[in-house]
Amino acid sequence: MADLRIVGRALVGDRLLDEVTVEVDGDLISSVSVGDVGSGPRLLLSRGQLLLPSATDIHVHLRDWEQAYKEDVFTGTSAAVAGGVTTVAEMPNTLPPIKSPSALKERLELLAARAIADYAVHVGALDSVKDAVEALELGACGMKLYPADLERLEDYLRVSRQSGMRLVVHAELRGGDEQEAVRMILSRIAAGDDVRLAHVSMAESLRMVELARGELAARITVEAAPHHMLLSREALDEESKKISAVRPPLASEADRRYIFSGLDGCSVDFIASDHAPHALDEKMSDPPAPGFPGLEVTYPLMLTEWLEGRLGISTLVKKFCRAPAEYLGIRKGEIRKGFYADLVVFDTKTIWRLSAKDFLSKAKYTPFEGRMLSAKVVSVFRRGELVYDGELLVKGGGVHVRELGQKTR
Ligand code: DOR
Ligand code: ZN
Repeated sequence: MADLRIVGRALVGDRLLDEVTVEVDGDLISSVSVGDVGSGPRLLLSRGQLLLPSATDIHVHLRDWEQAYKEDVFTGTSAAVAGGVTTVAEMPNTLPPIKSPSALKERLELLAARAIADYAVHVGALDSVKDAVEALELGACGMKLYPADLERLEDYLRVSRQSGMRLVVHAELRGGDEQEAVRMILSRIAAGDDVRLAHVSMAESLRMVELARGELAARITVEAAPHHMLLSREALDEESKKISAVRPPLASEADRRYIFSGLDGCSVDFIASDHAPHALDEKMSDPPAPGFPGLEVTYPLMLTEWLEGRLGISTLVKKFCRAPAEYLGIRKGEIRKGFYADLVVFDTKTIWRLSAKDFLSKAKYTPFEGRMLSAKVVSVFRRGELVYDGELLVKGGGVHVRELGQKTR
């Protein structure tokens, strides 16, 4: 008898099935069957509820340390689970930054003590192969380069090649030119490199990647953020201009459409929120701090795109659950026997108005304020444990993804 059976409508592989029994034993999915089968404790989904894998968001800023007034590890990862995200990968531009093995070690200790979601950490630009190897041994999931690091791209590519550390690049030159940055990066990538482009925002950038992929024997992957797929700079009033200020900035409507279509068209590999909270007065100042919280809105927003017929559900789950989990080397992101029971129950029948005052993030604003959404997170399981059920139910328990590596039963 399983610890729990969840019975109802679910996405299994690429198929949406009306009645499925997902058995959970300990932290794993122990069986997936059609119909209402088995015995023991049962969570019966109601009509309009839908069981999906919870998401893995590979681009978040949890702040903490000297910027704990913006967000901390506890509030940021609480926001994650409230948004149906049970694994996050952090970016290293904290204060102080995560730019050495010792800073990474300290960060991992903080996360172990405070994180609700499971986690991975990117390390900042490292000059030495020895440091990169050490960071990899500690479990760094990649090395993140910021615009200011791009002048020394060749050096970091060398460190990456010699250590085996993957790169993640914020492709903007100092003046904010994404296309020139993408062109420059692509011109330097060689066979065997593994480079992920963060939050690509312009059609021309994505077209260049599409072409380069056919020509280079390298792994070039692309993240897209919900704001670049659902919002454009056109028709923003002064206040929304400040709230929606972000790097790279919102682009044109044609860009937005092209990036969004890259999901179904396969040139976009990952959906990632770029959760980047700031204090409200920092957003309202001149110039406004770039970024805004995204962890609580990404899955409901994108699922609404499906419900309204603009996106395939298996595409969404592939790009926000399966592919990022694969990138981190964990068996999550699919409702499948032997995978971790990281699951989310959505209500897909109630239309609700998004309001940032309800966020668990410290940053209580969003450029999507007031949107009518047709998907709402009801319950979230992290490795078989109910961690969110309309409210947060735990105080910690997130683990480093390295401890979850390739677990099967
Ligand atoms: O808008 C942004 N905010 N873009 C970035 O690349 C950094 C981020 C932040 O850390 O605030
Ligand atoms: Zn970012």
